[in-house]
Amino acid sequence: MYHLLKGKRGIIFGALDENSIAWKTAERVHEEGGTFVLTNAPASIRLGNITELAQKTNSQIIPADATLVTDLENLVEQATAILGGKIDFVLHSIGMSVNVRKGNHYTNQDYDYTEKGWNVSALSFHKVLQVLYKKQAMNEWGSIIALSYMAAQRVFPDYNDMADNKAYLESVARSFGYFFGRDYNVRVNTISQSPTATRAGQGVKGFEEFIAFSEKMAPLGNATALDCANYTVAMFSDLTRKVTLQNLYHDGGFSNMGVSQQVMEMFE
Ligand code: NAI
Repeated sequence: MYHLLKGKRGIIFGALDENSIAWKTAERVHEEGGTFVLTNAPASIRLGNITELAQKTNSQIIPADATLVTDLENLVEQATAILGGKIDFVLHSIGMSVNVRKGNHYTNQDYDYTEKGWNVSALSFHKVLQVLYKKQAMNEWGSIIALSYMAAQRVFPDYNDMADNKAYLESVARSFGYFFGRDYNVRVNTISQSPTATRAGQGVKGFEEFIAFSEKMAPLGNATALDCANYTVAMFSDLTRKVTLQNLYHDGGFSNMGVSQQVMEMFE
């Protein structure tokens, strides 16, 4: 513990159960002295066990469907009231593809599902940013992070329409990040995380094989949810004030590998 977030206030989206990246992040932020409001979609709050996390971290839960601007407005108003001031950090840790859930192949999408998944996984980030921006709810030198995956840049066939959603998400971080930086000295970045065994991750077809492959490819091995939480804490801290508009790979080196010895050996 380094007290990196002492006195800082935030909003954490997307803690569903103890495997969630947002869950680990909330625990680490709490340990580092940050205070925050937890939020998730009402159905996910009923499904998961976020109340346990709230008790552990002395935080309140405000339900919000991240696709509904009115819910987000209410969330930001309540969060600033509960926390007693403007916001220093926000984690957007939200993703869901209806096509993946329904088993629709990338070449056979139901476009209503595509739109729903895009709204939840990508457009919701713009909505969060726009509500924070219009309400002038962020403190100067605040930090906003969304979680992405490398399928935004490279082909991973079973990642399906989530690849397109992540590409959009990363673009929103750059485009909105410009205005947040220029007008409020607030930074906006995405962290491109290794495959991680969570509810969202395990929904991807062939996930077990894929996580084993990337473990053998990455010189440092896969980054875990806890590793990701630590990186996010660093990005929320005052030690990274001039990092913005970036997609930050957090994957044990996977993204710059061609092939590893360990993977080659499998073909010998
Ligand atoms: P998770 O399933 O624990 O978290 C996803 C969260 O999205 C859940 O808490 C869910 O309730 C929330 N959500 C869904 N619809 C929502 C809505 N309408 N409004 C508000 N919240 C909603 O899974 P995980 O893996 O922790 O996912 C967090 C983020 O990390 C996602 O953006 C995911 O794409 C990303 N990511 C995950 C990787 C993995 O392999 N697990 C790898 C790289 C990125």
